[in-house]
Amino acid sequence: MQLQAPKGTRDILPSQTQTWQWVESVARSVFSTYGYQEIRTPIFENTDLFVRGVGDTTDIVEKEMYTFNDKANRSVTLRPEGTAPVVRAVIQNRLLEGASVLKLYYNGRMYRYERPQAGRYREHWQVGVEVFGAAEAAVDAEVIALAHKFYSRLGFKDLTLHLNTIGDRACRPKFVSDLKAFTKARLNQFCQECQGRYERNPLRLFDCKIGCREILSEGPKLLEYLCDSCREHFDAVKRYLKLLGIEFTENPNLVRGMDYYSRTTFEFTAGGLGAQDAIGGGGRYDYLVEELGNKPTPGIGFGLGVDRIILALEAQKFEISPQPPIDVYIAVLGDEAMPIAFQLAEKFRDSQIRTDLEYNGRSLKAQMKTAHKFGVKYVVIIGEDEIKNGAATVRDMESGNQRAVEFDGLGKALKISSQ
Ligand code: HAM
Repeated sequence: MQLQAPKGTRDILPSQTQTWQWVESVARSVFSTYGYQEIRTPIFENTDLFVRGVGDTTDIVEKEMYTFNDKANRSVTLRPEGTAPVVRAVIQNRLLEGASVLKLYYNGRMYRYERPQAGRYREHWQVGVEVFGAAEAAVDAEVIALAHKFYSRLGFKDLTLHLNTIGDRACRPKFVSDLKAFTKARLNQFCQECQGRYERNPLRLFDCKIGCREILSEGPKLLEYLCDSCREHFDAVKRYLKLLGIEFTENPNLVRGMDYYSRTTFEFTAGGLGAQDAIGGGGRYDYLVEELGNKPTPGIGFGLGVDRIILALEAQKFEISPQPPIDVYIAVLGDEAMPIAFQLAEKFRDSQIRTDLEYNGRSLKAQMKTAHKFGVKYVVIIGEDEIKNGAATVRDMESGNQRAVEFDGLGKALKISSQ
């Protein structure tokens, strides 16, 4: 049987990694202009973190986690998302002590046992940010503006920002109890799964993927239940976004699939992706730090799906011009040439010239073909004549011109012209 990567996972091949590196470098550069510093957390955590952090009635925790017992019988889980691990790391390492506001970003793989389809994988990548210690609406708008800037820098054109608020501890309970009453009166119209959701966590009814949301559109509206401070907060977020000229669509169904959210929630969708069009999302989570055992600290952040971002860029016909993997190829003719070529390659690399050479003693024609395939600027040929004359033959692959350059002067000649 042919070997295959596990279902729902993919290899990112050398032909694609330049695009990935570019997207990651834009993320790093944009995030750092807003004062974020990188954090790296483990790929697996104790299962309890996600049960408590993300919520035991969410689809993620109920159905999608890669959970297993290690050899000492501890239950561990491959992280399905980045927020709970970052909060855990912040608390454990006391990063909030002495900091008024803490801004962190991450770039990493997440694992969810979902049904794979275009744009939905069991291993996916997210770049994300989390901000702690700032409850002001300006921060919500800044976080959204940051994601927006990142997408713009990548060249996104067809992009929609969906915005909502889901209230707080003061106003949400009344909405939830009215939602429960509304649902109870029509329970037989809801799917089997939603009948369970209604019992355990009615807000999760909004996660239904098979139509129950339509019934909910007749039900109570969260926006009508907002307390004054949540309403003011939401109005201020919108004002700040308008100040920056960022367009948005209000979407009252956007509760998002994790229990930790409060107040602002948002999601970005992109054209050309089909069903899996959410290329990023996030929101405020003012109770999560407290729920995981620290003193109350407001938080807000987002996770942006790199796999989908790259698919969307491709769908929007965006192209980055690929850089060749090396600048110079050394063609080696004969055994005597090898040690000279070998040393030269090291010298070039010391001068930051990206170099590869022939190891297999093939014909010049075969070597030139390889150099052409790499798309190098120069081929440096070393054979009997070159050794005798103390000068290599340098071929400019674009013009086809060849000239002799003394071995000693090669590094300088190539460096100047190849950079
Ligand atoms: P999320 O919406 O679950 O949020 O995931 C963020 C993004 O990751 C999604 O918008 C999507 O682009 C991508 N994504 C999610 N699942 C998959 C998948 N199976 N295949 C491909 N891409 C996927 C969170 O995870 C929150 N932790 C975000 C956050 C940070 N909220 C506050 N801070």
